[in-house]
Amino acid sequence: MTQDIDVLTRITMNGLGFLATLFVFVVGLCALLVVILFVIDVTQTKDAVRRNYPVLGRFRSIFSKLGEFFRQYFFAMDREEMPFNRAEREWVYKSSKGTDNTVAFGSTKDLTGIGTVIFVNCPFPTLHEDSMPAPPITIGPYCDHPYETQSIINISGMSFGAISQPAVKALSRGAKLAGCWLNTGEGGLSPYHLEGGCDIVYQIGTAKYGVRTRDGQMDTEKLQALAARPEVKMIELKMSQGAKPGKGGILPAVKVTPEIAKIRGIPVGEPSLSPNGHPEIRNVPQLLDMIVHLREVTQKPVGFKTVVGAYGWLETLCEEINGRGIHTAPDFITVDSGDGGTGAAPMPLMDNVGLPVKEALPMVADILARYGLKERIKLIASGKLVTPSEVAWAYCAGADVVVSARGFMFALGCIQALKCNKNTCPTGVTTHDRRLQRGLDPTDKAVRVKNYVERIGNDVGVIAHSCGVAHPRALKRYHCRIVQNTGKSIPFNELYPPIELPAHAKAAPTRQAIS
Ligand SMILES: Cc1cc2nc3c(=O)[nH]c(=O)nc-3n(C[C@H](O)[C@H](O)[C@H](O)COP(=O)(O)O)c2cc1C
Repeated sequence: MTQDIDVLTRITMNGLGFLATLFVFVVGLCALLVVILFVIDVTQTKDAVRRNYPVLGRFRSIFSKLGEFFRQYFFAMDREEMPFNRAEREWVYKSSKGTDNTVAFGSTKDLTGIGTVIFVNCPFPTLHEDSMPAPPITIGPYCDHPYETQSIINISGMSFGAISQPAVKALSRGAKLAGCWLNTGEGGLSPYHLEGGCDIVYQIGTAKYGVRTRDGQMDTEKLQALAARPEVKMIELKMSQGAKPGKGGILPAVKVTPEIAKIRGIPVGEPSLSPNGHPEIRNVPQLLDMIVHLREVTQKPVGFKTVVGAYGWLETLCEEINGRGIHTAPDFITVDSGDGGTGAAPMPLMDNVGLPVKEALPMVADILARYGLKERIKLIASGKLVTPSEVAWAYCAGADVVVSARGFMFALGCIQALKCNKNTCPTGVTTHDRRLQRGLDPTDKAVRVKNYVERIGNDVGVIAHSCGVAHPRALKRYHCRIVQNTGKSIPFNELYPPIELPAHAKAAPTRQAIS
């Protein structure tokens, strides 16, 4: 018995001795590390803070990095963050998960902020039995293969490269379930876009990825073969993108995998930088020539995507169309917002170049209406239109269709980590790191994409019914008011008065009209 106690005491003493030695060793190691860091900091010349406050100065950058993550959880208010605040993100998350997204107690939104949209409810809202689904629209009435679509929100261009393989798969399958289209973005058409069997809008960027010759020219035969696919419904020529007008696509070298390089027709592991404009489209007549050419080659509706800054060229375009004949017009124009998203862009372009969609959309709608082309050229609106109110505003402003990129990224699980340009996206949406991609299950996320589309359609309908109309496409400018710098709102149709359509524009265009 006494022997047992002795053994136990010896073991305990040995253990304590070991822990004490370990403690002294760890403390010594930390002290040594501090001394080494101190010497490094005082002898280096690149960082003034670290040189003046050795070791302690290092905490500054650690805290500002951690701040990026923790602000959104602990400090930022619901309506504070950019580009999307917590209230907006949560709405998308809940909608795409199909969970209850009603809110309690009262709105956290300040209704006096300049630009706030207030919808004008009708004393006699549309009764449920009088409501209607949004009617379909036809894009490209003069094409051999016009495109008819009913969905009021569709998936905006995001290239395979900027987003991952499972993300593209989930979008493709989700778009099929939801009955909306998926725009390929400028990175070419991958098998993953086709996997779900959804409608595809093929985007041709300035580098013509996927339909280019070795020296970067348009390869008409490749385009013809691609457009012959039944899934490809329309062709979008990308003139510019809101986040980086006047700058081409940027895919960092780390994201140019062999597969992406093959699909784009470029070398592996080198940064993929597309030209900042189409060399063969330097003016309005050349733009129209290209649209006519693409439509002849593909026999499908062709339009272009642009962010609006200068706008006189749009009037020139309308004059040119009316001179050549209405059938030569682009079948649609996608108006992207100056504050649109991207995988990577220079900050000055992202921050300060190009008009926000809030200004550009009514302006372009009015230009088209003045030239009698509003019916002929469908207007697609894009840029932070991720919640029902934003989408409903776009329909009031004159959009025929709305598209979103980041709304769908949230549906895929994006947490706005702002890492799309780093290949380290923690949710697998914009990374080609297989480990990180494991978090994104295409089957599960496809359902979220579908839920998101359905919830947007439903809730924009709810706004429309509250305003007394039967469906979202019946929303007009007089259905909303915009808050001014006085804190009071004025009717949207006072800010942008309606344009009386010229007689030739009142009848919907038909193929026979040109024969
Ligand atoms: C990750 C990412 C990749 C994108 N890639 C493209 C692209 O290839 N082509 C393009 O025209 N726009 C691209 N965009 C822009 C979007 O299509 C869209 O115009 C813009 O983000 C505004 O819509 P949103 O506010 O709903 O995101 C990209 C955006 C994101 C976030």
